[in-house]
Amino acid sequence: MRRKIVAGNWKMNKNIHQGLELVNELIALDSPADVLKIIAPPFVHIAHISQLVKSKSDMAVAAQNCHQETSGAYTGEISAEMISSCGAQYVIIGHSERRLYFGENSALLTQKVNTALANSLTPIFCLGENMEERNANKHLEAVKQQLKDALFHLTPAEFSKLIIAYEPVWAIGTGLTATSHQAQGMHNFIRAEINKKYGKDISEQISILYGGSCNAQNAKELFACIDVDGGLIGGASLKAADFIAIANSF
Ligand code: 13P
Repeated sequence: MRRKIVAGNWKMNKNIHQGLELVNELIALDSPADVLKIIAPPFVHIAHISQLVKSKSDMAVAAQNCHQETSGAYTGEISAEMISSCGAQYVIIGHSERRLYFGENSALLTQKVNTALANSLTPIFCLGENMEERNANKHLEAVKQQLKDALFHLTPAEFSKLIIAYEPVWAIGTGLTATSHQAQGMHNFIRAEINKKYGKDISEQISILYGGSCNAQNAKELFACIDVDGGLIGGASLKAADFIAIANSF
């Protein structure tokens, strides 16, 4: 059985007071214990929030990024080891906003994935096509390339630790959601590619999340898809009731 997961990517939102308030609200609301709720706040919240959710086996903390090097003279950067030492267990890598605004490419993402794994962080690795690729019917090819370029150097043992998030760029923050048919089609394709490279056991066990305007209204239909194991939620993760409603959508 694959783990059901909803991860809330707060992006660059919430000051420390607002962040702690949101987490306290999340803790107070009922949600299924078999759904892992991952909170991905800005770096400055991680140590605080990790303390708050420490005793909750169905909650965990992720960073939204990490640096590719282990340590050194990289002013303003945050290492995977620092994140891990603050109590986070996960890190989002390859988000389309990092690719777009910070020029992150597959070669860099490969290094980040390696560094994260070496420092006991589980990468939540994001991939997805843009609108142009979807319209040109090149979406499968584009996602396959991202998967191969950034992840297929991993050993089976390493790869099996990952969480994958399919986030079509055209659906992020736009209010446009992939249909359940489009999401299932891509998730199934990604799983088949993993199967070809790493075999059935690993491909069947890896969680693949959907992200892109996923909300309390559409989550049920998306999560009902056989290859959709949960969601990576942006905007709708900023309100406790919405995020928990999504966690209740399996
Ligand atoms: P939205 O849910 O706001 O579209 O963002 C999705 C996302 O980018 C999550 O990482």
